[in-house]
Amino acid sequence: MSTVYLSNITKQFGSVTAVKDLDLTIQEGEFFTFLGPSGCGKTTTLRMIAGFYYPTTGKVKFNDRDMTKVAPEKRNTGMVFQNYALFPHMTVFENVAFGLKVRKLKKPVIKEKVTDVLKKVRLDQFIDRQVSQLSGGQQQRVALARALVIEPDILLLDEPLSNLDARLRDEMRNEILRLQREYGISMVYVTHDQVEALSMSDRIAVFNTGVCHQVGTPTEIYNEPVNDFVAKFIGETNLFPVTFEKDVNNQSVYHSEKMADSFYVNKTQLNIAEYDEADRLAISIRPEVVHLSEEPVEGKNVYQGEVSLVQFTGESVHTFVKVNEDVTFKATDLNRGPKTYLKEGSHVYILIPEDQVRIVPQSGSDQ
Ligand SMILES: Nc1ncnc2c1ncn2[C@@H]1O[C@H](COP(=O)(O)OP(=O)(O)O)[C@@H](O)[C@H]1O
Ligand SMILES: [Mg+2]
Repeated sequence: MSTVYLSNITKQFGSVTAVKDLDLTIQEGEFFTFLGPSGCGKTTTLRMIAGFYYPTTGKVKFNDRDMTKVAPEKRNTGMVFQNYALFPHMTVFENVAFGLKVRKLKKPVIKEKVTDVLKKVRLDQFIDRQVSQLSGGQQQRVALARALVIEPDILLLDEPLSNLDARLRDEMRNEILRLQREYGISMVYVTHDQVEALSMSDRIAVFNTGVCHQVGTPTEIYNEPVNDFVAKFIGETNLFPVTFEKDVNNQSVYHSEKMADSFYVNKTQLNIAEYDEADRLAISIRPEVVHLSEEPVEGKNVYQGEVSLVQFTGESVHTFVKVNEDVTFKATDLNRGPKTYLKEGSHVYILIPEDQVRIVPQSGSDQ
């Protein structure tokens, strides 16, 4: 088992900076996720942990061992890829045994280890099946077994579920988590899927264009994004540029030009991210905190608008309310039957609770 330290890592490919000034610590036994849009440097970072790439500058350490320029086969990391990278003409047994043969283990030991890991991934009845005759989900289990059988200190998974359909993906998420708990192994998991990241991870690092914006638990990342990029990338949000207006008791007031109105926000760390005086600011309002009512409501942040669209998705209902030409709020409510469905064109009151919004600095990314 290892703690992984990445210190001040930068990786250049010619003039492209794939990863910039990255500092991260991945704890022993942690399920740690790299999340971000395509091209933001997730795979490059994973490959620097595996040893397939060496950083241009900076250090990689496993516990107190400097691994920066150690060859992949000397790191005891396992890797699982999106496209499985299996040998299709070989059997399940041969695929899983491959890494053990390379390590020159004795036949009976190999047999025992392979049988054991195939039981763990629930593929023992397919041991002699050719890999090309397995379903996508089963092939991904073979890839997991092959990586786990060498008993790695760290398992690295690069978008391993992207090729599976939604139902299988769900099943494999639980499967991977079960294996992680069973083996007590550290996993570094790469995905661009925020639901996957939120539902699986102990901690998440959010990347954009080679820069890690935030590291935190799923609830920290969702409830306390450090800037507008993180707020937008994780979950849905209503995001408007605002400027600081004044303090009133234990609240701050921020003005939105587009709304031609102001928002009261509780002056707490949960509601106001750290920012510098020079930063441009935005308010992030999650759709599930937007309260709509056909009757007038009491509160500081009450606005009025017209329902422009109602989207029914089964478990929840999204209601879009137009305040003016520039501003439309999205409100999401659980489906509680017909009283949840407002009529398109109807006039409504919008209430935004002061303790459930967040002021964030704008990061300057275009995402
Ligand atoms: N081997 C390579 N040679 C040149 N550029 C690369 C190479 N690998 C990645 N890049 C570039 O580095 C950036 C980050 O890529 P990558 O780490 O693969 O992103 P992600 O996995 O988040 O989609 C991209 O701009 C990509 O084009
Ligand atoms: Mg990638």
